Amino acid sequence: MKILGIESSCDECSAAVVENGETIISNVVATQIEFHRPFDGVVPEIASRKHLEWITGVVQEALAAAGTEKNDIQGIAVTGRPGLVGSLLVGLSFAKALAFAWELDFVAVDHIRAHLYAPHLENDIEYPYLGVIVSGGHTIICRVETFDNITVMGTTIDDACGEAFDKVSKFFGWGYPGGPVVDKLAQKGDPRAFNFPTPSLHKGDHTYDVSYSGLKTAVINQLDQFWNRDYEKSPENIAAAFQKRAVAILAAKVKKAVKATGLKKIVAGGGVAANSELRRTLKEIEDTEVVFPSMKLCTDNGAMIAGLGYQYLKKGLASGMEENAFSRVDGFKKKYP
Ligand code: KG4
Ligand code: ZN
Repeated sequence: MKILGIESSCDECSAAVVENGETIISNVVATQIEFHRPFDGVVPEIASRKHLEWITGVVQEALAAAGTEKNDIQGIAVTGRPGLVGSLLVGLSFAKALAFAWELDFVAVDHIRAHLYAPHLENDIEYPYLGVIVSGGHTIICRVETFDNITVMGTTIDDACGEAFDKVSKFFGWGYPGGPVVDKLAQKGDPRAFNFPTPSLHKGDHTYDVSYSGLKTAVINQLDQFWNRDYEKSPENIAAAFQKRAVAILAAKVKKAVKATGLKKIVAGGGVAANSELRRTLKEIEDTEVVFPSMKLCTDNGAMIAGLGYQYLKKGLASGMEENAFSRVDGFKKKYP
């Protein structure tokens, strides 16, 4: 069963053809980064306009690259939430129109669940496992029973992890998007140059939660306070120390969750899963196996949407034409293991 997947939730306009939820036949990603770079962040109005301009070409390219025609596609999957509503609506409306014209079922899927599905396109992964979703908008530690049954154990109480990378980079004028820029700078820096603070979120409901606003404030507003003067106050050293702390904050909570659940498998997804320090640190957690998507499947792509969409369509769980786009996540219960 070949599914066409369409992703337009943020600044990547992407379409892919995936067979049986596991084999990527094509995956075309058109990034808008250069249009948002002058503003150091995604401008929603520019994003939706670019999606509108590009979506037909991107879908055509994905179908051509897959060597498929209309008759080879058995269903359409599209990101329905969460994301920028104007951008989501471009993909959703396109998917609905195409489904109507081609007389196919379509399903609107959750982008966050799709990020977690991405590594399933490259690995044979059995459930259950501990999921770690780290993107520009979300930071989630969860227990994953199936592609659809996810219990959130911890999340961020303020900024998302990727957001912290983006904001720090923006403040210092290092470039956009911040994550890859900080990662690259950090390679040449010494994290001992700054001893940035760790949030204390150990009690009550926050056992597995993380927080990034304190770290962000320390790096942006209180740099000298945390500076170890034996080292240079260079961008490389700031980036290295920030990245190390940002990853340590998350890794500490992941370790706690591993211990509490007894799960031996960790599966990561989302843009920040491309981070070299995060990949290294999570792999070091004792007694566990960690699965990361390849770099191109960490950030937004249509393949993860097609893959997850297949799982719903296979069960006959298609969406109706009344389906709408939503900016926020839905259906994630938060509770202890
Ligand atoms: O998953 P994604 O493409 O979009 C969202 O769903 O948000 O993630 C984008 C985020 C951005 O915040 C970007 O700075 C971050 O992922 N990112 C990274 C790296 N590559 C992308 N953060 C840290 N290190 C990286 N290498
Ligand atoms: Zn994403």
